[in-house]
Amino acid sequence: MSADHLDDLAPVSAVVVLAAGGGTRMKSKKSKLLHEVCGKTMLSFSVSAAAALNPEHLVVVVGHQRDEVAAHLETLTTTVRTAVQDEQLGTGHAVKCGLEDLGELRGEVVVTYGDVPMLTGDTLRQLVAVHRARHHAATVLTAVVDDPTGYGRVVRHGEKVVGIVEHKDATQEQRAICEINSGIYVFDAEVLSEGLGSLGTDNAQGEQYLTDVVHHAHTTGREVGAMVIEDLWQTEGVNDRVQLARMNKEMSRRILDAWMLKGVTIIDPASTWVDVDVDLAPDVVLMPGTILQGATTIGEGAVIGPYTTLMDVEVGADAEVIRTHGSFAIIGEGATVGPFAYLRPGTQLGDKGKIGTFVETKNARIAGGAKVPHLAYVGDAHIDAGANIGAGTIFANYDGIHKSATHVGEGAFVGSNSVLVAPVDIGDGALVAAGSTITDDVPAGALAVARGRQHISEGWVARTRPGSKQDVAAQSSDGAIHPAVEESRAKKNG
Ligand code: UD1
Ligand code: CA
Repeated sequence: MSADHLDDLAPVSAVVVLAAGGGTRMKSKKSKLLHEVCGKTMLSFSVSAAAALNPEHLVVVVGHQRDEVAAHLETLTTTVRTAVQDEQLGTGHAVKCGLEDLGELRGEVVVTYGDVPMLTGDTLRQLVAVHRARHHAATVLTAVVDDPTGYGRVVRHGEKVVGIVEHKDATQEQRAICEINSGIYVFDAEVLSEGLGSLGTDNAQGEQYLTDVVHHAHTTGREVGAMVIEDLWQTEGVNDRVQLARMNKEMSRRILDAWMLKGVTIIDPASTWVDVDVDLAPDVVLMPGTILQGATTIGEGAVIGPYTTLMDVEVGADAEVIRTHGSFAIIGEGATVGPFAYLRPGTQLGDKGKIGTFVETKNARIAGGAKVPHLAYVGDAHIDAGANIGAGTIFANYDGIHKSATHVGEGAFVGSNSVLVAPVDIGDGALVAAGSTITDDVPAGALAVARGRQHISEGWVARTRPGSKQDVAAQSSDGAIHPAVEESRAKKNG
C-alpha cells in the first residue's frame, strides 16, 4: 500500500510514545531521548512521526529525567501531553500510565517508542491503513531479521498472529523464529483497555508486558495481524553511542541520497553531513568535509567546501564558501568566503561581497561588492557598498568595557594594517593610509594618515655594525632601486 493513497487517512484516537526508560547504556547525564540524529533529538523524530497520524491525543510517557524530557517536548511545535510512569514496571504498565488521563477512548490507539528515530510517519500511516482494511483488533509492526536475540518473537499459526513471546520467556523452538516484534502497534482502543486490565507479571522479567495484550486479543477471539516492514532501520532503537553513530550515518546517507536525487552534487557523501532541516537548491555543490547544520539554506549553484561547517547560515545563489566556519550568518548571491574564514553571529555579506583568507567577522554588515580580502578582524561593523578593507585591518570594537560600532562609507579604502578604534566613522570615498591607527572620524573624500613619519639614518649599519652580514651586503650594493618598484612608481605617478 503506497503512502500516496493515505492522504485522507482519518485520524486515530491516540498515539502513546513510550519514553520512560533509563537509557543507562548511553552513559550520559543527558536523557537518551535528547541525543541527536542529524541535528534533531531522537524524541522529536518520534513525535513528528506520531503527529503524522493526526491523533486526537499525543501522549509521551516519561519517567527517567522527566523534567528535562518534558522541557524539551515543550520546545517542539506539535502539542503533546506527558504522562508520568514513576517506576518502569513494563511496557504494558507504561501504556496504562499513558492512557490514564484520557478517559474512555474509541477508535484506535497507536503505541510507539521515543528512541526509534528512523520510523516515518508514512510507515505509521500504512500500519493504520492495514489495521483498518483487515478489520484487526491489533496490528503489530514486525520485521524479519538475521539475529533476533533479545527481541520478542512473533508466534503465528499459519498466517494468523497468536501472540508475542519475549526472548527471555521463549522456548528453544520459539527462539528460532526470526520475525520480531518492533514494539510498534495499532490497537482497537477497547480491546487495548480490556487487555491492559488483564495483564499479570508472571514472566521471566516480572514485568507487565504490552505484548500480552496481543495474545489476549487472540484468545478472546479477535483478529490480530502484522505488517512486516522491509526497511529494518525504521524499527531500530538506539541504546548506546555505537548504535547512535550508526543511526546518524544511515540517516545522513538517506538525507544525502534524497538531495542528490533533487539535483545537488555531493562529491564525497562519506565525509558530508547535512542536518535534516537544512534546505539545498538544485545545482548546489557540496565538496568533501562539508557539515551543514541547523536551519542552513543554500541557494542555487552555490559551492560549499571543502572542509566547511555552517550552522544556521543562509547562502545566496552562486556564492562560494571555502574552508569556512560560520554560524548565524547571511552570505549574499555570488559572494565569496574563505578559505579560512570565521563568520560569527550577525555577519551579513552582501551580493558579490568578499570575506577572504583568515578573516574573522562578528555582527558585521558588509554591503554588496565590499571586500575584506585578507587577515582582518571585523566586529560591530557597517561597511558600505564597494568599500575595500586592506590586509591586516582590525576593527577595535572593544575597549575592555564597551563594544562600539565602526562605519566605513561607500567606496572607502582602508589601507593595510590599520586599526579603526570604535566608535569611529570613515566617510564615503575616504582613504585611510596603511598602518594608521584611526581614532577620529574621517570626512568623506579625505585622506587620513595616522602613523609615525619615516626617518632615515644614512650609513647607520657601517657605523654601528661594521663587518656584519648587513654591512657586507650594503658595501657591495650599487644602491639602485629595484626595477619592479621603479615601474610601479612610474605607473602611480602617471
Ligand atoms: C520490547 C518488547 C519486545 C520488542 C522490543 C522491541 C515488551 C514486553 N517487549 O522489549 O517484544 O521486541 O520492545 O524493541 O513490550 N518503556 C517504558 N516503561 C517501561 C518499560 C519500557 O517507557 O516500564 C519504554 C522504554 O523506554 C523503551 C520501550 O518502552 O522506549 C521499550 O522498552 P525496552 O525495555 O527497550 O524493550 P523490551 O521490553 O526489552
Ligand atoms: Ca525491558
